[in-house]
Amino acid sequence: MILTVTPNPSLDRTYELPALTRGAVLRATADRVDPGGKGINVSRAVAAAGHRTVAVAPLGGPEGALLARLLGEHGIEAAGVPIAGSTRINVTLVEPDGTLTKVNAAGPEITAAEAEGLLDAVRARSAATDWIACCGSLPRGLPPEWYAELVARSHRAGARIALDTSGAALVAALRERPDVIKPNAEELAEAVGRPLATVGEAVKAAEELRARGARCVLASLGADGQLLVDGSGAHFGSARVDAVRSNVGAGDASLAGFLAAGGTGPAALAAAVAHGAAAVQLPGSVMPTPADLDLSSVITTTDIPMDRALTEPAP
Ligand SMILES: Nc1ncnc2c1ncn2[C@@H]1O[C@H](COP(=O)(O)OP(=O)(O)OP(=O)(O)O)[C@@H](O)[C@H]1O
Ligand SMILES: [Mg+2]
Repeated sequence: MILTVTPNPSLDRTYELPALTRGAVLRATADRVDPGGKGINVSRAVAAAGHRTVAVAPLGGPEGALLARLLGEHGIEAAGVPIAGSTRINVTLVEPDGTLTKVNAAGPEITAAEAEGLLDAVRARSAATDWIACCGSLPRGLPPEWYAELVARSHRAGARIALDTSGAALVAALRERPDVIKPNAEELAEAVGRPLATVGEAVKAAEELRARGARCVLASLGADGQLLVDGSGAHFGSARVDAVRSNVGAGDASLAGFLAAGGTGPAALAAAVAHGAAAVQLPGSVMPTPADLDLSSVITTTDIPMDRALTEPAP
């Protein structure tokens, strides 16, 4: 079972528009609502792969109740922690050429008691989990050290923890030795405080985060593939992708694939790459099912292309 923690989940409402005109009343040609948030995306991918997953998230108001119902429809057990505020709604506007315009709400402020409720909800299920995946930014009210506390408590409970976050929350959690972190190129660059121009520089940055506490770094480099850097060295993985439809949630799909495949070693890296490649070939944040995966197009190697320029260097 893979438990996910999403401190700032959302209801993602998507409107398809014939054209996006500022200042006009726009009529949607289609609309839908999906469960959102990075940990919830991981749960969706784990469920799509046919594994059991529980999503811990603060839920409030009618939006929170709807989110819980949608999680159930996706085959995800919702472990909702009731909050006084209301779960946020994020809006995506889609134009016919595929251009996305997003409006993300800040989300409710979490009180100290509600934050404790989240930690309790994780602890109550720690013994029954293979992995705890903590994903996304922290909502208002949670201090940057909140993930560090979660990692420390989960380790005391004997659980393995994967962390996919950025900035101060990532940096603060390193000292508690998370078992896996999954930065993308930009998050990796931010954590080491310098731009990364090549795959080799990304390897060095990942090694630096290991030296600062991370046990294993799964770094996703967008179109340039993925790196797995752990105590045994570095592996590089990539896959052929014919046409990119949407990279939204590709990193979340990768982390889900990695953890569902054991969360360690080159076979798990291959699964992560296969999930990322499949996710970008599906629309929106649709998560791949086993039928979408093509492991035969994945290569993993310890012969890292150190000098290869990153096509999406961090700013
Ligand atoms: N343009 C692309 N072409 C081919 N593969 C891609 C592309 N973008 C992403 N991928 C695949 O998906 C993986 C994850 O993508 P990326 O590094 O962009 O994650 P991310 O920024 O964490 O995404 P998110 O947080 O939105 O889920 C990549 O390592 C790669 O395997
Ligand atoms: Mg990501």
